[in-house]
This record gives sequence, structure tokens and C-alpha cells, in this order.
Amino acid sequence: GEEEAASEEGGDEKLVIGFSQVGAESEWRTANTKSIQNAITDAGHELKFSDAQQKQENQIKAIRSFITQKVDAIVFSPVVETGFETVLQEAKDAGIPIFLADRAVDVEDDSLWATFLGSDFVEEGRKAGNWLVEEMKDVEGPVNIVELQGTVGSAPANDRKEGFEEVVSADDKFKIIKSQTGDFTRAKGKEVMEAFLKSEGDNIDVLYAHNDDMAIGAIQAIEEYGLKPGEDIIIIGVDAVKGAFEAMADGKMNVTIECNPLFGPQLVDLIEAHFAGETLDKRIAVEESMYTMDQAEELLPTRQY
Ligand code: AHR
Repeated sequence: GEEEAASEEGGDEKLVIGFSQVGAESEWRTANTKSIQNAITDAGHELKFSDAQQKQENQIKAIRSFITQKVDAIVFSPVVETGFETVLQEAKDAGIPIFLADRAVDVEDDSLWATFLGSDFVEEGRKAGNWLVEEMKDVEGPVNIVELQGTVGSAPANDRKEGFEEVVSADDKFKIIKSQTGDFTRAKGKEVMEAFLKSEGDNIDVLYAHNDDMAIGAIQAIEEYGLKPGEDIIIIGVDAVKGAFEAMADGKMNVTIECNPLFGPQLVDLIEAHFAGETLDKRIAVEESMYTMDQAEELLPTRQY
């Protein structure tokens, strides 16, 4: 348990860390899983890993199993924001600190987690909106936007929608004509884009996808439909994964907003600081940027994920 580990000297103790990950839905997620797994084991700690396959009930089971196994700490990337009170309370009662990674939970009692390290998803949505406003400043409109949302109820889907809408709603030439979930996957992104094209066709000016994988799936759908992604339809994604840089270098995607998954080492530093007795900030943001088509070729070889 926590006390036992903390009583050993100086924060150098080997911890047993349970990691409940969302799934393997995107390039981003794969990079994030590796970054966290490697950081834990490279620091000499023991890792217990569980992939929830994007299902909340699997995460609740995984956390309960970590509690039964008496891990020292739990790293938790919640698939959706709500519905985790009970299990987080169980971890608290067992004296096991929770380190929220990447995604937030929506619970009243913030003593249920030690810290939350992740990106500012609302800000990412705003960046996407601001880029579009600037790109379209000389266009009279209407500008018809279709939106591919992330997993229903997840923090990045809720927040990226909110931040984007906040910006584009200031000018009523921007119209979000369709908005549906593609569950953060390429396959669903393609499928839902096909449906958008079927009902709206040439009417679509812009695709805003909550992640690059869905944008990449949609690009395929647009090409199969006979339109040019990046030209006939402006493509905006989030994450800045390699696949997006490749699409941008090919002229098929216009911009990607960075969401950096490589925070494993920073996360392990926080866990160790906690066990060394430090009080952590409740909210720690990951720093990030955004990249456009004209930068893609130059930056592609240096991208780490
Ligand atoms: O929570 C982060 C989001 O989850 C990433 O942007 C997306 O690709 C992933 O599936």
C-alpha cells in the first residue's frame, strides 16, 4: 500500500503500478501506451497493464483487480468522463492513489485522484476553430462544416467540440451541418464520412475530425467519392501523428492540432514525487503546438509518433 511504500527511503523504492488504458483505437493511443509502459519499467517499477478496449465496464473491472492485487499506484485514462465515483472511492479507501493520465473524470470530489496530467482539449478545439477562421477570412460563406466526434462521453470529444464551437459560433457564416461520432477510429471515420457525403455531397466545405485517425479514414471516403481532400474539402485533424504528416505532405490534409502522447516520463516523475511526499498540483498540462500542410515534409522525419 501507499504508506508502506512511502516509509521506505527517499522515493527510490520499486513501486507496483497498475495502468488502465482506454484501448488501442488510434495511432496516438499506441504511442501513449508505449510511452507510459516504457517509462514505468525503465524507472525500475513493476507494471500491471490492462487494455479496456474502449469499454467502461472493463476499466472498472481492471481497477477493482488492481485494488485486490494491492498495487501501490494506479494510472488511469478514463474512456468516458462520468460514472467512475464508486470505483475511485474504493481505490481511495484502499489507500491507493490514482494518477489520471490523458483524460479527465467528471466527479465532485477531487480527493479521488492525486493529479491529472493531460492535454487541454478545449484549447485544442479552439486552435482548430481559430485556424479555420483565419483560413476562411476572405470567404463569404456559408462555410459548411461536418464534424467527426470522438468517443461519445469522452473528455476529448466533449472538449474539442466545445472549444471549436466557441470559436466558430462567433461568425454565423460557419455552419456545422452534420456532427456524429466516429469513435476515434479510422474505420468508423471512413464509414461516417461516407454517410455524410451521401447526404450532403458537394455541399461540404470543411471536415473537422476530433482526431487524425478519423480524418485519415474520411480522406479515403472522400477520394472514393471522387472529391479531392485538402482542396475540395478542407481537412482539420487533432493529434499530429505521423499519418497526418504523411497526408499533409501529399496535400490531402490541411492542418493538425498537436496532442502530445509522449508524457510517460513526466507521469512517472509525478508518481515518484508523490511517493517522496510532495504535494502535486491537481492539474498539469502537456505543452503542444499545431502544424500545417506547408511544414509537413520538413517535419515528418523528426516526428516521434
Ligand atoms: O484522449 C486523447 C485522444 O484519444 C486522442 O486524441 C485520440 O486519438 C485518442 O483516441
